[in-house]
Amino acid sequence: MALAVIGEYKLRLDKYLTEMGIGSRSEVKQGIKKGFAKVNDTAVTRPEYKVNETDVVCWKGTPIHFVEYEYIMLHKPAGVISATEDTKDRTVLDLIKDAKRKDLFPVGRLDKDTEGLLLLTNDGDLAHRLLSPKHHVSKTYYAKVDGIMTEEDIRIFSEGFKVDDALTALPAKLTILNVKDDTSEIELEIYEGKFHQVKRMVHAVGKEVVYLKRLSMGSLVLDEQLKPGEYRPLTEHELEGLYAGSHQSRHI
Ligand code: URA
Repeated sequence: MALAVIGEYKLRLDKYLTEMGIGSRSEVKQGIKKGFAKVNDTAVTRPEYKVNETDVVCWKGTPIHFVEYEYIMLHKPAGVISATEDTKDRTVLDLIKDAKRKDLFPVGRLDKDTEGLLLLTNDGDLAHRLLSPKHHVSKTYYAKVDGIMTEEDIRIFSEGFKVDDALTALPAKLTILNVKDDTSEIELEIYEGKFHQVKRMVHAVGKEVVYLKRLSMGSLVLDEQLKPGEYRPLTEHELEGLYAGSHQSRHI
C-alpha cells in the first residue's frame, strides 16, 4: 500500500472511476449507463454526475476509494529502467504491484545499472520542485570506484569544475570512505542531476564508477530495510519533509 492523499474534490463520476483504474473512460461511461455505479447506495446512470469526498462510490457493489496522490519509495534494483513504459526493458513501474493510481512516474532518473532511492508519484508539483535546477535539491550517492580517489579530487569536486564539453559541475561534497588495493569507496553529494553525472565526474578525474547507489534525495533517505526491488509508502513525515525542503508548504 502506498501513502495515499485524499484532498477536497468535486469531480465527475466517470473521471473518478477512470482514475481509479476501473477501465477506459468509454468503458466506464458505458458501465455507468448500464447501472454498475452507485453513489451513497443509489444507482447513478449519468457519467457527468459530480461526486465529492464525502460520497461513497461503488462499482458493481464494491466500494471504490478515491486516491488523489500516491507516494512510493522504491529501492530500485539494477537492470530496470526509470521510465513509465518501454518496449524491451522492465521499468520501475512494472515492480509496483498494488498501485492505486495508474499515472505514477519516477521523479528523475537513475541509470539502468544504478540502484537505490527512487520516488514514484503522480504529484507533478512535488516532482517539479524536487527536479527544478533552481532548487538545488541535494542527492547523495554511494559508489565503488576503480582507481584511487584522492584529497585532490575532494578539492576539485568541492570547487566545481568543467567535467567535459557539456557539463560544468557545481561544487559537490566528496567523502572517501575507504581505499583498498586499486579501488575506492566514496560518498558523493551533488546538487544537480545531469545525465550520468556521478559517472562523468569520476571519469573526469581519471577513475571509473563500477557500482552506484543513490542514498538520499533532499530530506528523503533510502530505507535500508528495503531490499532492491522492494518498496513502501512514504510516511507523512517524509512527505512533509520533502515539501518543506523544497521551500514550499502544503496541507495534506
Ligand atoms: N549519476 C550517474 O552517473 N548515474 C545515475 O544513475 C545517477 C547519477
